[in-house]
Amino acid sequence: MKESDLKMYASLMLSEVDRTHSLLNELLFISKPQPQSDLKTCNLGSIVMEVLPIIKNHSILKEVELEVSISKAPMLVQINPQQVKQVILNLTSNAFEAMDNCSKKTLSIKCFPLPCGSKIRLEISDTGKGIPCHLQEKIFEPFFSTKEEKKGTGLGLYVVKNIVEELNGKIWVKSETGVGTSFFIELTGIMAHSNVKNMSSRADIITAS
Ligand SMILES: Nc1ncnc2c1ncn2[C@@H]1O[C@H](COP(=O)(O)OP(=O)(O)O)[C@@H](O)[C@H]1O
Ligand SMILES: [Mg+2]
Repeated sequence: MKESDLKMYASLMLSEVDRTHSLLNELLFISKPQPQSDLKTCNLGSIVMEVLPIIKNHSILKEVELEVSISKAPMLVQINPQQVKQVILNLTSNAFEAMDNCSKKTLSIKCFPLPCGSKIRLEISDTGKGIPCHLQEKIFEPFFSTKEEKKGTGLGLYVVKNIVEELNGKIWVKSETGVGTSFFIELTGIMAHSNVKNMSSRADIITAS
């Protein structure tokens, strides 16, 4: 089999596994909201680093340039790590799909504390087709999708928004048709107390790509 065919099949398999995985997670989330007791103190930068191998794989197969910038400051937040990973993967999988037929394909992930010190910002931007203005207020509604029936459930951003808002965070979008889209998430950080010893490690990453 030719290398290009292998790449195509690998890409197809990956996107199908991905689709099934996110569909399952979305259905699980809707049917069984997570108890607050599952919240843990984590460094948001480390959570991003933990999902980065999956995102890197996608970007290689989809020929997308990946830019990652994670502050080395400790960005401690009270979260359910699995859910926040789901948030990141939902946003990046939308970004990859939005860039499918674009000539410029760049996915950028940034995570940094705001100067005020108490908020942590996560930004996920793509150079994809963008979201027309009149649809931007609809994208977070359950079952809203512009994708073909089998490709989109319209639950991804609904679940993302619910997860962020359950953490008392904020999410918003900026997008321009033909230019790209950025999603912004802001979570309240917690101060590094001496009793926070078991947080995830690897807090010292500055940039990666
Ligand atoms: N990064 C993006 N670029 C362009 N459109 C997007 C992006 N993210 C989301 N959208 C739009 O928002 C809709 C809803 O997204 P989502 O809730 O994840 O559902 P789905 O991906 O299953 O369609 C998508 O169908 C698409 O129209
Ligand atoms: Mg989606």
